[in-house]
Amino acid sequence: MPHFRDVKRTLSNERREYPIKMSHAYPAVNIGWGAHTMAGNDARALGMKNALIVTTGLKGTGIIEAMQGVLKAAGVESSVYDKATPNPKDHEVMEGAKMLAAGKFDGLISVGGGSTTDCCKAIRLVFSHDGQDVRSFEGAFKANKANKLPHLAINTTSGTGSEVSCFSIINHTDKMYKMALFDPNCTPSKSINDPLLHQCMSQDLAAYTGMDALAHAIEAIASRLMVQSAHGPGLWAITQIFENLRQSSANRNNEKAIEQMVWAEMAAAISFNSAGLGIIHSMAHAMGGLYDSPHGLCNAIGMVEVCKYNLSACPERFAMMARAAGINTVGMSDMKAGEAFIDLVAELKADLGITTTFGDLGLKEKDLDSLSKFAAADICSEGNPKDIGFNEMRQVFKNCM
Ligand SMILES: [Fe+2]
Repeated sequence: MPHFRDVKRTLSNERREYPIKMSHAYPAVNIGWGAHTMAGNDARALGMKNALIVTTGLKGTGIIEAMQGVLKAAGVESSVYDKATPNPKDHEVMEGAKMLAAGKFDGLISVGGGSTTDCCKAIRLVFSHDGQDVRSFEGAFKANKANKLPHLAINTTSGTGSEVSCFSIINHTDKMYKMALFDPNCTPSKSINDPLLHQCMSQDLAAYTGMDALAHAIEAIASRLMVQSAHGPGLWAITQIFENLRQSSANRNNEKAIEQMVWAEMAAAISFNSAGLGIIHSMAHAMGGLYDSPHGLCNAIGMVEVCKYNLSACPERFAMMARAAGINTVGMSDMKAGEAFIDLVAELKADLGITTTFGDLGLKEKDLDSLSKFAAADICSEGNPKDIGFNEMRQVFKNCM
């Protein structure tokens, strides 16, 4: 029988950077056409009779009014906090938390995409900590009090996966960067993914959010955290995205493609929720903080250059992604298969009509240093498979200008 001392030595010789893996829970989700009609019952089951709806407003879609009707029919009263904006800001969170504290609300319901859901998660954290500054929750596992209220997340975009993740991304408006709040207390109590609501996205938003989902899958699979249970949902998401994103974006009446993108974005999020992300997201967070740029578009812009940068760190995992995307890799080395996959990503981006660069979004040479510093320090950079420092980050940014 081996002695523990020897076993330990073996372990320390061979252990990887993150020897202990963490698998993070995701909430129960109702998925399918018409699932939004169950929101009233879901809210009641969570103990809600008077809910605060958090949203960016979804103006012109009629979704908020419809959801309030569904809730009312189930006996749930609701008020609306619609001051959340894309790339939600710290002061919007604090204002929402004040409104929550001022009323007699017994639950939170977010209705919208990632920005809305993230804002709602942060409002819940702040409220549960008696109004503590949202900036104090930046980083990992900062909550030290249980959530006081349930959160029902009704998702309307096929990309961020925030409805099933324990992340909330909030803009620090003094320092102009995005803070990552990573905490199980951010995970919603229950979620709803109804393709009917997702169908209200514009073509552009469908494309951008779909590329966000692709970034989640790629970064989770390539992540140096190596949470292997994330590979299954991530690879499946990649297959679905390559088979459906073009059609879903081009024809907002293609119900099959729209539904598959709902499943894909959720699978990709389940994947990154445990496996983490990489510098596609670090760069997007820096751009979103400084220029308020759309998250999915930033990911689409950075994706090809970052994949090229990372390929040599994990060619075997890029080869897995190539096969998931439908590439016949027989006879190819892993490096060649990875290169073919990156070409396919570039093709998808072009087919979606995405030609924007970081330069088009406002990136200037003079901001490269501060942007690279923020991105290198972003929590997502920890998961990047290839070592990255300030100079390398600066170069990748430059390549995307
Ligand atoms: Fe994302």
